Amino acid sequence: MGLARGWSVALRGVDGHVVEVEADVGGGLPGVHLLGLPDAALRESQDRVRAAVVNSGLVWPNERIVLALSPATLRKTGSAFDLALACCVLAAAGTVPQRSLERTVLLGELALDGRLRPVRGVLPCLLAARDAGMARVVVPEVALSEAALVGGIEVHGATDLAEVLGWLRDGALLRRPGPPPGPGGDEPPDLADVLGQDDARHALEVAAAGGHHLLLVGPPGTGKTMLAQRIVGLLPRLTTDDALALAAIRSVAGRLPDGAPLATVPPLVAPHHSSSMAALVGGGGGLARPGAVSLAHRGVLFVDEAPEFGAHLLDALRTPLEEGEVRLARAEGTVHYPARFQLVLAANPCPCAPAHDRDCVCPSLVRRRYLGRLSGPLLDRVDLRARMYPVTTFTTEAAEGEDTATVRARVLAARAAAAERWAADGWRTNAEVPGPVLRSRYALPPAAVRPLDAGMRAGELTARGADRALRVAWTLSDLSGTSRPDREHVEAALYFRDRRAA
Ligand SMILES: Nc1ncnc2c1ncn2[C@@H]1O[C@H](COP(=O)(O)OP(=O)(O)O)[C@@H](O)[C@H]1O
Ligand SMILES: [Mg+2]
Ligand SMILES: [Zn+2]
Repeated sequence: MGLARGWSVALRGVDGHVVEVEADVGGGLPGVHLLGLPDAALRESQDRVRAAVVNSGLVWPNERIVLALSPATLRKTGSAFDLALACCVLAAAGTVPQRSLERTVLLGELALDGRLRPVRGVLPCLLAARDAGMARVVVPEVALSEAALVGGIEVHGATDLAEVLGWLRDGALLRRPGPPPGPGGDEPPDLADVLGQDDARHALEVAAAGGHHLLLVGPPGTGKTMLAQRIVGLLPRLTTDDALALAAIRSVAGRLPDGAPLATVPPLVAPHHSSSMAALVGGGGGLARPGAVSLAHRGVLFVDEAPEFGAHLLDALRTPLEEGEVRLARAEGTVHYPARFQLVLAANPCPCAPAHDRDCVCPSLVRRRYLGRLSGPLLDRVDLRARMYPVTTFTTEAAEGEDTATVRARVLAARAAAAERWAADGWRTNAEVPGPVLRSRYALPPAAVRPLDAGMRAGELTARGADRALRVAWTLSDLSGTSRPDREHVEAALYFRDRRAA
């Protein structure tokens, strides 16, 4: 009897941490002792592991067994350590060679009969294993297509404990992942489908070019949802790192479709107004799961029918909007999920929502209060607003707009100009640049910013509002190919903010 050492991965949010698993067998009264901050699920795992070993036709050592997970200070949750615990006990008992566990990460929950069950978050676990210099990973077979998305580490898939033991002991082959699917995913629908709505289309282009948040207001059936769905086609494709970060979030959320390639088009996530707080920002018992704001990471969160969302849901968007991540505090500890998204809000002008404003039956107070539900602090972060009206014709050529490829070319050129300007500071878009930087290092000539001064003196514009307008002005300048905004760009930016929503 003796000591054995193997490896597994603990997840904290979407960050994996390689965990050393040790088993010491012998030298005392029969029993199992588990060290290293185990949570309830992990304590149950000792019973599962023992049953799985016995039901796989192997001998569970009838001696004192000490199992340790380290670093001990790291909180470890879940059942993904089962396989590593089982293999370490068997290695310590001499059933499998200790050597076979070297630089080998074992992931998976064991069923009582020894079957290997899937666990959430395989992809971020693999990223952590690879970055820690591990050579091999064994995952439940169903996770192979997900595992195929991670390069640089040898991946094997197994269906039960007996197979894994055969591999460790005799070198029997396990399943290998197929070639990773080429990056891809569904192309979003084309902007050419949207007729009319020149103002809103322009606002969409500016939003895409500068990374600005956008509010679309108009009666039902004017194309608000259509437009919002098309913004992701205007955005740059995801980098591999961003696509992997998004896939890791989807994996932890249990929302990575089987066999899906790495996304190239940024995600568009549209939560319903009846969503729970947990579905929107993340949460749930035990290991808190990521919500819609994180599934929209590096993409767009589309809040359709925004006034129908409760105030508490809308307020919950403010922290991720400011910080680009959510923090979820649980008894098991706080987890962080990335949540850097662009916000597109859509709203009807009033609750009765007729196709034409003239048919509205709402009392004027009700009408005014409706959009007021989008609280001030949230709206203050929305740089762009566009009012939409019923489309009057589907036939005239005048109604036909440009297609996605044409608009996208301008957006990418504007983004490239902005990215080059801010590269030294690490910002990608104008929307990310702090106000003080725009007011000092990149201050515009007094003549250009006069409209802002006037608005602030008249009390019509908050200081934060002025900063937002400055950012939009830089985007308008980038779109027109000028080196910095002039007075017209600043005025146009103010017009986007000012436009009375109702
Ligand atoms: N501007 C438009 N151009 C072309 N079709 C439109 C337009 N607006 C609405 N439609 C048609 O009406 C349907 C509903 O549009 P939608 O975008 O859902 O409107 P909204 O979100 O403003 O209520 C669309 O599927 C489309 O067939
Ligand atoms: Mg709609
Ligand atoms: Zn009404």
